[in-house]
Amino acid sequence: MLHDLIRKNRSYRRFFEDVSIDAETLRQLADLGRLSASSKNLQPLKYILSSDAQKNALIFPHLGWAAHLKDWKGPEEGERPSAYIVILGDKDITASAGCDHCIAAQSIMLGAAERGLGGCMIRSIARDELRQALGIPERFDILLVLALGKPKETVVIDPLGSEGDTRYWRDADGVHHVPKRSLEEVILEQW
Ligand SMILES: Cc1cc2nc3c(=O)[nH]c(=O)nc-3n(C[C@H](O)[C@H](O)[C@H](O)COP(=O)(O)O)c2cc1C
Repeated sequence: MLHDLIRKNRSYRRFFEDVSIDAETLRQLADLGRLSASSKNLQPLKYILSSDAQKNALIFPHLGWAAHLKDWKGPEEGERPSAYIVILGDKDITASAGCDHCIAAQSIMLGAAERGLGGCMIRSIARDELRQALGIPERFDILLVLALGKPKETVVIDPLGSEGDTRYWRDADGVHHVPKRSLEEVILEQW
């Protein structure tokens, strides 16, 4: 079952924007982050949750979408995320959150997939602008933004071609293709 959930848990970038995510669901997703592994159990992560259209509009312009889709500027109005979780690192707790935020992010995205939702982890962030837009104090590093919603696109996993190109792409029907290396390629040795 976890295998199925992980297969389903693709990066989605187009959504039914009018399908909202309620505040309690967002809190439950943040709780999955809270309960995740943390280096030295320092738990430096803090979360800003938004399912409010006006706040969402403050976040969206500062995100970078799908660097490999050169002709696509990101989701249009009506297909934008209906919620966001901004993951912050509290520098009063530790100077670097290490990889805690990526682990928390995966927990949250799996929780979203389990609920029939989906989204995209976004590290390409205009951090200064987002900090200003949301009034985030300097004490917090902006680590990741999780864009969330009801996916409006089909994403499929393809075997990596012989040319080894890992770039994702979109076909004429708008289906998003994600090439993945084979298990044989990534397991170097097994005894
Ligand atoms: C740490 C991290 C940062 C990412 N940042 C971005 C980003 O800034 N913008 C974006 O569109 N996708 C971003 N992605 C999504 C990746 O492009 C995506 O995971 C990859 O294409 C593989 O697709 P999949 O998630 O469906 O397996 C990020 C993924 C990770 C793990």
